[in-house]
Amino acid sequence: WSLILHFLLPVGGLCGQVRKRHPWGDAKATKEEIEKKLAEILGPKTEADNVKPVKKKKEKPAKVEEKKVAVATAAPPSEEELNPYTIFPQPAENNKVHTEIFFSDGNIWRAHNTKEILEKHLKATGGKVMTRFPPEPNGYLHIGHAKAMFIDFGLAKERNGHCYLRFDDTNPEAEKKEYIDHIQEIVKWMGWEPYKVTYTSDYFQALYEHAVELIRKGLAYVDHQTAEQIKEYREKKMNSPWRDRPIEESLQLFEDMRRGLIAEGAATLRMKQDMQNDNKNMSDLIAYRIKFTPHPHAGDKWCIYPSYDYAHCMVDSLENITHSLCTLEFDIRRPSYYWLLVALGLYQPHVWEYSRLNISHTMMSKRKLNRLVTEKWVDGWDDPRLLTLAGLRRRGVSANAINSFIRGIGITRSDNSLIRVDRLEYHIREELNKTASRTMVVLHPLKVVITNLEDGKVIDLDGKKWPDAPADEASSYYKVPFSKIIYIEKTDFRVKDSKDYYGLAPGKSALLRYAFPIKCTEVIYGDNPDDIVEIRAEYDPSKTSKPKGVLHWVAQPAPGVDPLKVEIRLFEKLFLSENPAELEDWLGDLNPHSKEVVKDAYAVPSLATAVLGDKFQFERLGYFAVDTDSTPEKLVFNRTVTLRDSYGKAGPK
Ligand SMILES: *[C@@H]1O[C@H](CO)[C@@H](O)[C@H](O)[C@H]1NC(C)=O
Ligand SMILES: *[C@@H]1O[C@H](CO)[C@@H](O)[C@H](O)[C@H]1NC(C)=O
Ligand SMILES: *[C@@H]1O[C@H](CO)[C@@H](O)[C@H](O)[C@H]1NC(C)=O
Ligand SMILES: *[C@@H]1O[C@H](CO)[C@@H](O)[C@H](O)[C@H]1NC(C)=O
Ligand SMILES: *[C@@H]1O[C@H](CO)[C@@H](O)[C@H](O)[C@H]1NC(C)=O
Repeated sequence: WSLILHFLLPVGGLCGQVRKRHPWGDAKATKEEIEKKLAEILGPKTEADNVKPVKKKKEKPAKVEEKKVAVATAAPPSEEELNPYTIFPQPAENNKVHTEIFFSDGNIWRAHNTKEILEKHLKATGGKVMTRFPPEPNGYLHIGHAKAMFIDFGLAKERNGHCYLRFDDTNPEAEKKEYIDHIQEIVKWMGWEPYKVTYTSDYFQALYEHAVELIRKGLAYVDHQTAEQIKEYREKKMNSPWRDRPIEESLQLFEDMRRGLIAEGAATLRMKQDMQNDNKNMSDLIAYRIKFTPHPHAGDKWCIYPSYDYAHCMVDSLENITHSLCTLEFDIRRPSYYWLLVALGLYQPHVWEYSRLNISHTMMSKRKLNRLVTEKWVDGWDDPRLLTLAGLRRRGVSANAINSFIRGIGITRSDNSLIRVDRLEYHIREELNKTASRTMVVLHPLKVVITNLEDGKVIDLDGKKWPDAPADEASSYYKVPFSKIIYIEKTDFRVKDSKDYYGLAPGKSALLRYAFPIKCTEVIYGDNPDDIVEIRAEYDPSKTSKPKGVLHWVAQPAPGVDPLKVEIRLFEKLFLSENPAELEDWLGDLNPHSKEVVKDAYAVPSLATAVLGDKFQFERLGYFAVDTDSTPEKLVFNRTVTLRDSYGKAGPK
């Protein structure tokens, strides 16, 4: 037996091959199944089989790794791979309720479909991969959802399958039409196309009928314990006193619940799972609760609502989802997911969990985001400082940059580290570097008078819109007037010079970008010595001097005419610490300087034609997007992201 295993059919190699075709598969389970099948063919192992073959190791078993299943980069699927069931069609006898097999041997339960169910299922799907993106419409989507979309929609797209957008709307109290509309819009903006838009509430009737069937089978009961009692009994592994009530009684009470004859909280329907199981997510989870609240989608037809645990697996099954993908916190719910489908003899999707996305300096819990918004710590769900998708969009970040960030971090089951927000910013810059045209804006202007330039003279210069713009294309340049009065950033002038400083200082020169070197000749002070009102300088029209520092600047476009004024909003990280989620007083960690508004910044004249949707690199300041608050009188720009974090620290380079 072992000889055959090791030489004719190396089990490791076999596993490796299977794993290649089925990256979603459970590695341990694969190996066990292969060994089981081989045992069926070759007969049971004998003592002799356990003796290690003496021959030198020829082929090391291929390393079976759970890591790095990159959806986006996997090879195109084979015909066989398109059908995720070819390896483990299960005999019919497995389709029984076996509560004891869940987690009892440390294994995670997985899909076991009968041949008959599978054939029907394959007929309905045509063997296509079917996934779903199932947000609950109780808030705006954040960057964590971008990862879920990337996996759900991305897998379907890559495998030529379909992905549902399913609103998991089982809780009528938290859900709103506003959120439903927003989610639909943002999914589209992210570049994904749902196969169909469905609602868990579309299935309320079917879910209800299955609940009745479950009671009939003796696998659900109406319970009257309070939430506290349920919790206590779960901890003590004790059955509810109503657990073994007659089926007829539960049927009648469930009917009364549906008809609104029982008060809220006075009864629930519970699944008869396994109170002895160490996994509390198997201790008779609640299937239905009474809520006298109309539903935003289903209207006032129901006053009993299914729980997530009851509805989610069943709707996955009813929609014939092939791969039900979710984050790792849900793996503890996998047994109950399958318990219910097994109990009702329904088709079982393949469940696979991946690690959730955590990003530094931000908050991803919907509950906490909700607090930040409702208590007005930020300006709404689409505040540019939040990593909600709407916030990122308003800040001028493209869906493309978000998706390439997600692709970059990869999809794994193990790596649950905190991803630094800089990594996202890197991808945003990468893209904007290619798409945003350059221009010049001065945030905090300091007046510079060029003493050796005639009054009234304006020299028109060419600013480059693109760093590697072709010289012969007029559209690659913007007009930059140079005149007697120009403005530079206040921070680009220092009275005290030093060696590592490249800006302007008394007696020192700097180059004005696209223009001439200037040398500071005089400093004009206001009433106190800290108050510098004006700099006098001489320019070098021959450009013979070669100063190291390069400054951005804006000139008076005509004598006596102020430069174009624009409003600029600068954003910093919303939280001071890396991981505010772990702080008790996380609100106290909010960065007081996360938003700065500069009312009157100066801009070059060409910026006047900017329109909503335009994106720019303001030289040395960062990338900026035209804001919806702009008026014909005044343009408003929000900073999308800084350039690398060099500016403002050591002065210009
Ligand atoms: C799912 O598959 C079943 C057959 O197993 C079929 O009857 C049903 O219509 C399919 N449902 C959907 C939503 O495609
Ligand atoms: C199920 O597991 C989750 C996550 O560990 C936990 O928060 C929840 O309380 C569990 N459910 C029950 C009914 O114990
Ligand atoms: C710009 O910032 C303001 C102030 O925070 C915000 O209300 C607005 O939504 C932002 N707009 C864009 C396009 O980012
Ligand atoms: C990521 O978030 C989850 C859920 O909030 C948390 O349990 C986990 O500890 C976080 N991981 C890190 C590395 O912060
Ligand atoms: C932007 O792109 C240019 C090439 O077009 C490259 O030289 C430069 O280093 C890039 N800048 C950043 C900040 O990535």
